[in-house]
Amino acid sequence: MSNAQKKGRELTFSILKYNPSKKDSKPEFVEFKIEETAGMTLFIALNIIREKIDADLAFDFVCRAGICGSCGMVVNGKPLLACRTLTADYPDGKIQLMPMPAFELIRDLSVNTGKWMDAMSVRVESWIHINEVHDIAKLEEKVDPDVADETFELDRCIECGLCVSSCATALMRPDFVGPAGLNRIARFHVDPHDNRTDEDYYELIGDDNGIFGCMSLMACEDHCPKELPLQEKIAYLRRKMVSLK
Ligand code: SF4
Ligand code: FES
Repeated sequence: MSNAQKKGRELTFSILKYNPSKKDSKPEFVEFKIEETAGMTLFIALNIIREKIDADLAFDFVCRAGICGSCGMVVNGKPLLACRTLTADYPDGKIQLMPMPAFELIRDLSVNTGKWMDAMSVRVESWIHINEVHDIAKLEEKVDPDVADETFELDRCIECGLCVSSCATALMRPDFVGPAGLNRIARFHVDPHDNRTDEDYYELIGDDNGIFGCMSLMACEDHCPKELPLQEKIAYLRRKMVSLK
């Protein structure tokens, strides 16, 4: 038998299905069995399940390349990007999928990360604050390349929400600004275009729903698919904010 004809092993998916907008819907795990193919990702597996077994199954994907941040879900207890996760990583072929906690559930595996990220952006005033009236005739000031690099590094956040759904504080305290929010503050803090002072940042995050809510459990950084230095930046901001107390 050639490789092309070789049968793949059987995968067993256990997927949480629930539609909170329907009164008669109750959360339940539904089992699906499919044949594994070479290089199969959870994205491919979920599409096969939806095409061949359950057309009603809800989940989110856009880019399929780890860029858009749409496909976060809890895979065997760990928040992961489904488009970047191979079924081959699960030797026993048993894969449990649940929606990410901390976000509003839309249906099945689909959660509203956009709503959470929008609220966070407003909360941390995620825009450049300048003290002067902007003069468009003035030449832009040069930025030190190292500072520009650091700003771009923190700007790589794709707003997937994996850090938030793995954060114990965010799960216990819905008003916590979360690792993604603290990363956003760190990004503006390093950007010389933003004229906000440490006192201004303290007003935004100087409490238990901000920088002092983090318990330094490190799960955010462990799960960030972009490997952002979340704990280093949180520790730096905390030191800054403590010195203002
Ligand atoms: S910081 Fe990392 S894990 Fe958190 S939203 Fe951004 S990319 Fe996702
Ligand atoms: S589909 Fe875009 S990050 Fe997974």
